[in-house]
Amino acid sequence: MKKRIAIFISGRGSNMEAIIENAESGRLKDCCEIVLVFSNKKDARGLEIARQHGIEIACIESRGKKREDFDRELVKLLQPYQLDYIVLAGFMRILSPVFVRTYPNRIINIHPADTAEFQGVEAYKWAFEKGMSETKITVHFVDEGVDTGPVIAQQKVDLTGANSLEEVEKRGLKVEHKFYSKVLEDVFKCK
Ligand code: GAR
Repeated sequence: MKKRIAIFISGRGSNMEAIIENAESGRLKDCCEIVLVFSNKKDARGLEIARQHGIEIACIESRGKKREDFDRELVKLLQPYQLDYIVLAGFMRILSPVFVRTYPNRIINIHPADTAEFQGVEAYKWAFEKGMSETKITVHFVDEGVDTGPVIAQQKVDLTGANSLEEVEKRGLKVEHKFYSKVLEDVFKCK
């Protein structure tokens, strides 16, 4: 049975797009159905991409809202979709226990660094400024902390010779786009 998933985004949506393409005709075909793309920002570019693929979209603007109030609204919005998994793809808002406890071990995130070494935003900037020769993309379950949940899988990115932040990001995203769907395929037990 296909897993019913929602993808959460806040902006560009390039990881979301890679997952959509894999669900349409790649490794996630016959494996999951993307029943919703959700954003906490109404101007997120990825929403238009999802719409063009014929996927239902929804938005609750989070700005100015108390974390728990937003999360309660979101739980209510998602309830009819009967989701098996929630896939965070550049979703830049911390989810409170109100939300996380509704979907225990059902929320998955991609983080562009080793979560044991760096948590939070701008992980590529951190790797670039430290002059790291490699970084580790991490896919993990979301728990009640910030980037603290159980690691599912990690993939190294070679950063040797990457002499700008743009180059670091480019190399990292190229890995993210392949790696995320591969890990989701395992988590959804498609094989
Ligand atoms: C990606 O690099 C993703 O790993 C990162 O935001 C970017 C979103 O790009 N996520 C985090 O930093 C989460 N802490 P995208 O919208 O093009 O997928």
